[in-house]
Parts: sequence; C-alpha cells; structure tokens
Amino acid sequence: MQTEILKLNADSVEKAKNLLLNGEVVAIPTETVYGLGAIGLNPTAVKKIFEIKGRPSDNPLIAHVHEDYDLSKLVHIEKGYAKKLIKEFTPGPLTLVFYSKGVVCDEATCGGKTLAVRIPEHKGARQLLKAVNQPIVAPSANLSKHTSPVTANHVYNDLNGKVKLILDGGKCKGGIESTVLDCTGEVPRILRAGLITKEMIERVCGACEIAEHKDGDEVKSPGVKYTHYQPKCQTALFYESELESAKSLYNNYLSQGKVPYIMCQTAFDKEFKGYNILSLGESEYDMANNLYDKLLEGETKADIIIAVAFERYDGVYLGVMNRLKKSCGRL
Ligand code: TXA
Ligand code: MG
Repeated sequence: MQTEILKLNADSVEKAKNLLLNGEVVAIPTETVYGLGAIGLNPTAVKKIFEIKGRPSDNPLIAHVHEDYDLSKLVHIEKGYAKKLIKEFTPGPLTLVFYSKGVVCDEATCGGKTLAVRIPEHKGARQLLKAVNQPIVAPSANLSKHTSPVTANHVYNDLNGKVKLILDGGKCKGGIESTVLDCTGEVPRILRAGLITKEMIERVCGACEIAEHKDGDEVKSPGVKYTHYQPKCQTALFYESELESAKSLYNNYLSQGKVPYIMCQTAFDKEFKGYNILSLGESEYDMANNLYDKLLEGETKADIIIAVAFERYDGVYLGVMNRLKKSCGRL
C-alpha cells in the first residue's frame, strides 16, 4: 500500500473523510499526538487499527467528536462535575470516561461498559470531525509500545505501507497524550495524567483522585499496564541527586566508542557542558512538548539516551514523569 502524506487543507480533509466513510483508517493530527482514526461505528474499520498497530485486543480506543456533537448520543453523562469539566476544558486535551450507550462498536470499547470520549482542540482535527460528523476512534498513530508520534514524519516512520493517508497538520503542540479521567464515580479519577492536571480538575470539581495501578489490580484503564513509549535505542533515567551516575554511564558508553546523549531540561545545561544533548527546553510544558520528539530524534543517532530529570509530580510534571519513566524503563 502506498502511503500519502498530505498537508491539511480543505481538499485533503475531503479525501480523508471519503477514506474514513469507506472503512479505511487515516492518520490525523490532534493537539496532543497524532491519532490513527477510523469511524467508531464500523467494526471492520476499527479492527484494522488494532492490526496495524499490533495493539492488544483488550485496550479500548478513545472516540473523538467535534464540539457541536451531542455527546449524550454516545454516553450517559450523569455527574454534575462532568458537565462542568466539559464546559471548562473542551475542546482540549481531556478524555472523559462514561458508561457507553453502545453506539460506538464493541470492537472499539473491547466489549467494556464504558466509552472514553474526547473533543480535540486542533483546528484540522475539528475540520475533519465536522466533515464526518460521526465519532472517529483513534489511538496514538504509532506501532504498539513505540514512542507516540508528534509529526506526520514520525507517523510515516512507523506506519509507512500500512495506511493510505497521513494528514499533516504540523507538530502537535501538547506533545503528550490527553489526560484520561474516569467520570463514572462520585469523584473524578485520573487514569492517565496529561496537560489537564489534577490541580486544574480540583479547581473546577473540588476533588480529583489519581488511580493507582499496582500489580494484580483490576486495571481500569487497560493501556497503563503495558510497556509504552519506548524509543528503539537503549535508555536510562536518573534524578537530580544522581548526576554522577548519569555522567559515569555516559563516559562508559563513550569509552566503548558508542554514542550517548543526555536528554534534559535546560536547568541541567551547566552540569552537562560539552556533552551530546537532547534538550527538553525550560518549563514542564516545554518538556511535554519536546519529550517524544527528542526520544524519536535520539533513536536515530544515539546508542543510549540518558534522561536526567527533577523528580517532581506536581502539575504537568505528573504526566511528563509518567511518560519518561515508562519510555526510559524506570518504574
Ligand atoms: O491524546 C490522546 O488521547 C491521543 C489522541 C490521538 O487523541 N490518543 C491516545 O489514544 O493516546 P491511546 O489509545 O494511545 O490511549 C488511550 C488510553 C489508553 O490508556 C486506554 O486504555 C484508555 O485511554 N482508555 C480508552 N478507553 C477507555 C475506557 N473506556 N476506560 C478506561 N480507559 C480507557
Ligand atoms: Mg498510545
């Protein structure tokens, strides 16, 4: 299969719409990461997503709709806090889990009672969702376990020959996947942290829990139990109290004639003068924005990416650290 990358415009949106309505999958940009979309009412099309990605069959998909779509066609929105969250944070990088009305097919929900819904903010995604006017289910547009894509080229590198069309809407500005929030209980519960933070949700709802995923738990967000986000090179992660270990690992690789890179925020620049650097920028937002891009750049030129980070879990750091720990193998 020939894979075409088209700049997002009225013509390419029309082409994507027709492919989707014909049961094909299309890679689409969102403000978080690129998604691999299919019409959520078409079981055959949805199955293709799982095949293309090599995705475990018990890991459900998020249904994306535009901001004027009536969510209550798809899910039961019972809790008052959920209505407040929709008003406050959508369109945007927030995915809400409700009891499903069964409109989106079982292949997408993996037979579960709940459905995750999201209204993306990305202009191109909204154009396409409006044109289609049906839920588009989409996981991140990477091969299962690999780092999520934030450019059309990243998608191409994973899915060349497996999809007909990649809509190129530029680099995703968020850089990490949406916050996934369970809205079926009395208190909203974060299943996957992201740019809509616990603190932001608490401000609107008064309370917000974070799901703990331990071995042996019945996991509510199946995706979190799999290894994830890993680049193709070796990785390591050190905290601010372990800089000497990071340096000695780096030098160890150098002395073997290998190419190590340090990946860190600019706050560590002084410590690593003269080292090969993959810079994550200054703030935690920069870090989110750059993380996957730098991991994917790193895998093309480094034998090892040695990540160095502050061990912080407030605000956006929670989502960033969750990705960093999984991608660099330190849980
Ligand atoms: O930002 C994003 O969320 C991107 C873009 C494309 O929208 N999508 C994305 O999809 O990250 P994916 O499939 O890579 O991750 C979806 C996460 C997984 O951890 C999955 O287990 C969880 O959401 N999820 C999906 N449906 C769920 C449900 N009904 N209940 C609980 N968790 C669910
Ligand atoms: Mg994913």
